[in-house]
Amino acid sequence: MTELVKMTYSEVDLEAVATLNGLIAIFVGADGKLDTCARRVNTLSRKAVERLVASDAFAGLSDGGALRLAFPAGLAAAGILVVKLSRRPTQEAARLAGAALAQEKGPLDLTVLAGNLGKLADVALGLALRDYDFSAHKTAAPKPRSTVKFMSSKLESIDSKLISAIAGGVFFTRDLTNEPANILTTSNFADRLAEMQALGLKVEVLEEAALEKMGMGALLCVGQGSVSPSKVVVMQWHGGGDEAPFALVGKGVVFDTGGISIKPALGMEDMTMDMGGAGVVSGVMRTLAQRKAKANVVGVLGLVENMPSGNAVRPGDVVTSMKGDKIEVVNTDAEGRLVLADVLWYTQERFKPVGMINLATLTGAIIVALGHENAGVFSNSDDLSAAFLKAAGAEGEGAWRMPLSAAYDKMIDCRIADMRNTGGTRDAGSITAAQFLARFVKPETPWAHLDIAGVASIKGGTKFAPAGATGWGVMTLNRFISDNYEA
Ligand code: BES
Ligand code: MN
Ligand code: ZN
Repeated sequence: MTELVKMTYSEVDLEAVATLNGLIAIFVGADGKLDTCARRVNTLSRKAVERLVASDAFAGLSDGGALRLAFPAGLAAAGILVVKLSRRPTQEAARLAGAALAQEKGPLDLTVLAGNLGKLADVALGLALRDYDFSAHKTAAPKPRSTVKFMSSKLESIDSKLISAIAGGVFFTRDLTNEPANILTTSNFADRLAEMQALGLKVEVLEEAALEKMGMGALLCVGQGSVSPSKVVVMQWHGGGDEAPFALVGKGVVFDTGGISIKPALGMEDMTMDMGGAGVVSGVMRTLAQRKAKANVVGVLGLVENMPSGNAVRPGDVVTSMKGDKIEVVNTDAEGRLVLADVLWYTQERFKPVGMINLATLTGAIIVALGHENAGVFSNSDDLSAAFLKAAGAEGEGAWRMPLSAAYDKMIDCRIADMRNTGGTRDAGSITAAQFLARFVKPETPWAHLDIAGVASIKGGTKFAPAGATGWGVMTLNRFISDNYEA
């Protein structure tokens, strides 16, 4: 797994400043006032800090932005990073400051002179999140990881284990989502999850024979054209009492060619991220286990590969779901909903969860609607959806509620079976997909479907992630569990 940057925390040692190697970071608010740390660096550097703070460049920085003074006279350090941040920053500005430090520091070691700065834990989290590079398939020797040393007079406000648990979960998700499909096969994915038993998670891998026995004809038809066996992985975290768990369900299509309804060549390689929903669930379970969450949560993944072959499901085939409903597969590229139909049903039958959220890179249509800024949220429960949106807002991860209703549901009615797997038109494509899932949700289960096709992997990167997998949703779901299901 991509390693987190090594971060240590200690008391401020002003005497050490002159001889520190690597980079030094200080924080200066928009008012330009220097704290004790910044004053010491300013004095040693013969007022270079003062001049920088008086410059137009500093005035033009946004909150959380940073500028670099290279090779300052009077200090051993290779540079000073001057971060614009008020002493009592917002969470967002603090995380942005961390992200700016991650980008400015490069391969150099960094000492962060934070003094009595508030929200230092968020600076550290932002730094850890942005300091990610998926280099598993670069043959050049990996660059040694630099270290970051925070010097603070508020050490009691920093829970370093929690920061690692959160960033570690996000990195786990990103690595899975970035991994190509010849490496991250269904079996390899399941093996990586089984390793998390070392963290106290219970992990079961259900193989095809078991899935057949349970009647998962919808899920199985998707993988039947692939040489990789379909699997359902169940991860249980038991940190609460006797109460029923909250359930997280993920679409884990390790590669989506479209099947016989094959996708065009242009951009097909991006479908290596079509297990992004399963990736997020995996990352959240890891975070919950690492921080020993006081809640019961189960993560259930459908792992399949959608390939065309002589054995692949055909358009027009009718399959029977575990629930018993019969589905005409009019388009083999609408495979995610087939996988989820059975996994959602299985999860409810087995666990009777207090609530259920599924994540899936389900439709291109959600990207048309919301771009890469927000995931689509479809829910049968105003309470669940409000609680989720609140957590997303608090973590700064975009999410926007979308509608469900009987009129859309009618669009997937079918002449020859109980339903068909698309609406037969592009109109409301992400809603008809959600309506399909809703048919496999019991009325008593509060449920939300998150269509993350636009946010799971972003070519231009985000504030907290370089180009590629973002890990969107790990922090939100972690907060959602802690805010709603932990004492
Ligand atoms: N995995 C895709 C959706 C997707 C598209 C994810 C772009 C990420 C980026 C999904 O399985 C799919 O192919 N959906 C079809 C549904 C259609 C056939 C009804 C789509 O969106 O075109
Ligand atoms: Mn598809
Ligand atoms: Zn897909």
